[in-house]
Amino acid sequence: MNQLENYLYDPAKCSLAESLYKALAVVAEGTLPPDIDLLVCFKALEQPPEKSLGDYALPCFRFAKALKKIPNQMAEELKRELDASSNPWIGSVILKGAFLNIFTNQKEVSKNIIPLLINGEGYKLLSSHSTNNKTKVMIEFSQPNTHKEFHVGHGRNVCLGDSLCRIFAYNGFNVIPVNYIGDEGTHIAKCLWAVEHYTGEPLTEKVENKAEWLGQRYVEANSKLKDADDEKKIQYNIEISAILKAIENKSGKYYESWKITRQYCLDDFSRIYNWLDVHFEHYFYESEVSVASQQIVDEYIAKSLFVEDNGAFGFDMSDKKLGFFMARKSDGSTPYVTKDLALARVKFNDFDIDRSIYVVGSEQIFHFKQLFYALEQMGFEQAKKCYHLSYGLVVRPEGKMSSRAGNSITFLQLINIVVDEVKIYLEKYKDEWDNARLEDTAHKLAVGAIKYGMLQADPNKEIVFDPKEWVSFEGNSGPYLMYSYARTQSILIKAKELGVELSLAHLDLLVHESERDLMRHLYDFNQTVLYACENYKPSTIANHLFFTCKAYNRFYNEVSVMKAETEDLRAARLALLNAFGNTLKKGLYLLGITPPEKM
Ligand code: ARG
Repeated sequence: MNQLENYLYDPAKCSLAESLYKALAVVAEGTLPPDIDLLVCFKALEQPPEKSLGDYALPCFRFAKALKKIPNQMAEELKRELDASSNPWIGSVILKGAFLNIFTNQKEVSKNIIPLLINGEGYKLLSSHSTNNKTKVMIEFSQPNTHKEFHVGHGRNVCLGDSLCRIFAYNGFNVIPVNYIGDEGTHIAKCLWAVEHYTGEPLTEKVENKAEWLGQRYVEANSKLKDADDEKKIQYNIEISAILKAIENKSGKYYESWKITRQYCLDDFSRIYNWLDVHFEHYFYESEVSVASQQIVDEYIAKSLFVEDNGAFGFDMSDKKLGFFMARKSDGSTPYVTKDLALARVKFNDFDIDRSIYVVGSEQIFHFKQLFYALEQMGFEQAKKCYHLSYGLVVRPEGKMSSRAGNSITFLQLINIVVDEVKIYLEKYKDEWDNARLEDTAHKLAVGAIKYGMLQADPNKEIVFDPKEWVSFEGNSGPYLMYSYARTQSILIKAKELGVELSLAHLDLLVHESERDLMRHLYDFNQTVLYACENYKPSTIANHLFFTCKAYNRFYNEVSVMKAETEDLRAARLALLNAFGNTLKKGLYLLGITPPEKM
């Protein structure tokens, strides 16, 4: 088997690794130590911190040690061999002490890469990864609770989860996107209790955002409980408990209204997902795992893992600084975390998954630490392959959103704000475009602005929702990237109209510094997607695309495409432009964004 078969996304590096391996064999006079192989050579080639230091950097210490040489001398000998290798990918090798800085040969890069980016094969190099192909990854995201508003944090979650699914699939994984709806619990009983006492406009088919309407009742219930005196509070809680019991027993009028209102919420969520073009292969529900969560507690009491503690059941995790893991409360009910035990078991056993990713806010870090450790102690091997991708808050420019400060918005409201902002921009096309095109473009731009805004920051960092900035056509925004894409398409269409064809015959003419720089950005695309996958960070793709667009704009300003000095050069530049457009579109796709073709 070729040791580099999973690394074909970086053909220059593969080829360099082979030359390096041969060079080492020469320097070692035929007897290389067994721990030095092609893969080691591949991995030894690093990405230098600055592009002035070359496309690859090779520290020679490790090889010097293995071959018992002085590092500087090792570097010198390797340079001599690489120079003599006549590897077409090598432009130049610069010796710096014990380091080699390697510049690739621009012509070879263009010749090999641009055709792959034009015919699309270049975007399949990562997906043929042999182990990834055999690995089933379940990505759970969104997970809103019914009877509560779909808040802005859920919006960030959906964007992250969906992008992650696309990135994992691009890397060849077998991905199962799933949702886990919180359709059970005290919050619903509280909501239905408040609905009963509500004197305003009732909830009927006509109410547009029913989940939001119900969410408001839930909020009212909380404040009513808070303001009540002790005596009232006791009474209210008795009423709420009775509703909770009725729902759990699946009978009576509260159960009936639970079914109806639950469905209202699910329909509202689906509308959001459809608008965002996000899809799930399977939905799990809390209400579906609650019975199994009681059973699982009994099983592990029988296996003596869960033990009694003041009437509750669970086990001590203080050796891991995780306190007491409570699997069953003293009143006999199971807490949120126990349902997760049952859910995980379904995921492992019924879906036979190898890896399990949970996209959930950072306030649940402790919860997932407990959960994964509990699963491990319960003997689930996949527990080690569970990962919690946590993410930070979405805030407003003036600070945290809070209903008290009056600046709290739901995700649907955020969508409306962005759509309005986009429509202001599209105003100027009102007479030029028909309505269908205006609507379609507004939708694509709004989705792109929101997804890019949500993904451009590292998941761990807070995001500031600033509609003007998100919708701006300049700067680090979704519309800027989408606009860059649409521009490439209009240039290509115009060229076609003028009868100008792009051609792969003269790519070696692309020697301008701005062409080299753009080419390097395109070359690094796959590596960036690989990094994003390994580190669960769509943000690295967003940022790479932003800098690629900047490199493109520089190219477009510094050299002339349509008015190039010769026809051959024009054809080559059009090919580069086409490769850029395709790469940008693919990258946007990985963020869940579909750019308009024309703008
Ligand atoms: N519905 C929960 C909430 O809003 C999030 C569920 C996260 N997923 C899980 N498997 N616990 O807090």
